[in-house]
Amino acid sequence: MKKAREPNDRIEQLRAELRRHNRLYYVEAKPEISDRDYDALYKELEALEAEHPALIAPDSPTQRVGGEPLEGFASVRHAMPMMSLSNTYEKPELEEFDARLKRLLPDTPYTYVLEPKIDGVAVSLRYEEGLFVQGSTRGDGRVGDDITNNLRTVRSIPLRLQGEGPPPAVLEVRGEVFMPKTLFARLNREREEAGQETFANPRNATAGSLKQLDPKIVAARPLDVILYAVGELRGVAFETHTALIAGLKALGFKTAPRVWTGRDMAAIFDALDELEGLRHAFEFEMDGGVIKVNERALYERLGATAKSPRWAVAYKYEPERAETRIVKISVQVGRTGVLTPVAELEPVFLSGSTVKRATLHNEEDMRRKDIREGDLAVIEKAGEIIPAVVSVNKAARTGKEREFVMPTECPVCGGPVGKAEGEVAVRCENMQCPAQIKRWVRHFASRGAMDIEGLGDVLVEQLVDNGLIHDPADLYALKLEQVAALERMAEKSAQNLLAGIEASKGRDLWRLIFGLGVRHVGARSAQTLETHFRDIDALMTADEAALEQVPDIGPIVAASILEFFCIARNREVLERLRRAGVNVARTAESVVDGGPLAGKTFVLTGALETFSREEAGEKIRAKGGKVSSSVSKKTSFVVAGSEPGSKLDKARKLGVEVLDEAAFMRMIGQ
Ligand code: IVH
Repeated sequence: MKKAREPNDRIEQLRAELRRHNRLYYVEAKPEISDRDYDALYKELEALEAEHPALIAPDSPTQRVGGEPLEGFASVRHAMPMMSLSNTYEKPELEEFDARLKRLLPDTPYTYVLEPKIDGVAVSLRYEEGLFVQGSTRGDGRVGDDITNNLRTVRSIPLRLQGEGPPPAVLEVRGEVFMPKTLFARLNREREEAGQETFANPRNATAGSLKQLDPKIVAARPLDVILYAVGELRGVAFETHTALIAGLKALGFKTAPRVWTGRDMAAIFDALDELEGLRHAFEFEMDGGVIKVNERALYERLGATAKSPRWAVAYKYEPERAETRIVKISVQVGRTGVLTPVAELEPVFLSGSTVKRATLHNEEDMRRKDIREGDLAVIEKAGEIIPAVVSVNKAARTGKEREFVMPTECPVCGGPVGKAEGEVAVRCENMQCPAQIKRWVRHFASRGAMDIEGLGDVLVEQLVDNGLIHDPADLYALKLEQVAALERMAEKSAQNLLAGIEASKGRDLWRLIFGLGVRHVGARSAQTLETHFRDIDALMTADEAALEQVPDIGPIVAASILEFFCIARNREVLERLRRAGVNVARTAESVVDGGPLAGKTFVLTGALETFSREEAGEKIRAKGGKVSSSVSKKTSFVVAGSEPGSKLDKARKLGVEVLDEAAFMRMIGQ
């Protein structure tokens, strides 16, 4: 019996470890192990769970992206309504709030708590017997949307409550999901580069993310959560709000980074000043402070109005905006060739810094807001990072304002610009444009493509700006002296770069195909193209009909491949890559179809001595075979390593041939 329990023990141990590290990383921001070590633990758990599917539990750290895309969200009736807060921008109104409490609570002492008001999206998280069972939006306060699967992807939401002792029977916690400001900026940058619409501010990005029907998309968005209230509670109680915050922390939740307590409103005023000073210091956007009575026992006595409780109030800071003149509208060419209109402003002080420029996003947005050169404009720091023009004062126009037209030529190189179908962004189409070259080389060298170690963004900038490279093929002609002569480049790093470039010559053909940067050709299509055409010449000379015959290659991709190879410069770059010794044909390892194992399906169980599971899978695929995770009548072979799991039993039951490691090694020719 002991044997059967072993995987379970290890699985539980791994889950406990991973949960702890998750919490250290996402909640406490104090990681104890490297990402690599974390990944190793995660992979081990994933493999064990794949082996023993019966042991998969919904609260396992591997189950954060479990759900399938939804048609729409189901409705959730909140066990206790999610109320909003009464708001004020005026300190005297806070005095009135205090006076009202004194009237409602004669002779009863009470104290206050102040915490930041987080500008995100309110959610309620329901835990039953310690397990996260449902997550919902506020909706109208009584009925919200069930977004459980989306919230499961938020790493700082524990899937299971932590802490000693038995968990409460029911715990509903409430808080705010947000996108940290820096990660929001990064997401927008990536979207802009991909020609997608950017989000106006972190809250829109958060709301837009939580509305996604496919949890996998949500999982890729950098969302975070801070909890500050509770709904239904069974088997747990908190006397004060500060005790509640401490309790939530102990259960594994992230709470506000600072909470102030005060004996009276005067103390809260001081705290509010201090909080305002921290306005830009937090990773979330803060639009004010929330003042709450600390003694929770008084909440029932105080009750609520139709919408908000009488024991709390929000003090909001004015949005930080400024009015200034748009001196000029210029066009900036981003590192990816995207043309962005930029307002050059009369300098103005806003949110802690002097602003001289503001983004105008794109032509459409400008037209919608009717922004013209010479206009008096209201600017705001969207996400408090990128200043943006919110609106213009049309009443103040003199008639001398000039409408803006997007240039038809790239302001950097004079090359033609164009807009791809379905994209809002206008891009420079000249591949000789320094902005374009940088983009091209960065993509070529990236991890997913030719994987050139040591060639980071900064170095690409330097190489292009110094005229050392004009396309990816030039990389292979770089000399040590040239690289070493670059600013801040040590001899050793130069050597490393050249070694990285050299090593990339032997990459699989699909990496080269992907690295060429043909529009619409991703890594997956590149792999298909490799399988189909086997060398670059066959791909280059393929006509439309030949391309469209390839599985998964549609007319749009086919057209863009044809277009790419029509351009003489691209053909010339390829020729130089070939002459430099870059692999342009399919190698034995990457032979996939028609290999000796074509048509055979393998299932792996237990540990092999020679290979990891991934390596064994690669070997099988390299010989044309397929790997599946579950045994069925269609399985050709089950490869059983040491300590095989239930798959071996199933294979025996179904009469599927079982191979031991030695037989498997012979079969793959090792
Ligand atoms: S307490 C019953 N605390 O502000 C009151 N709310 O304008 C429960 N908010 O709907 C809310 N930070 O989405 C509370 N520290 C905080 C908050 C906070 C942000 C949001 C919340 C609420 C809205 C009201």
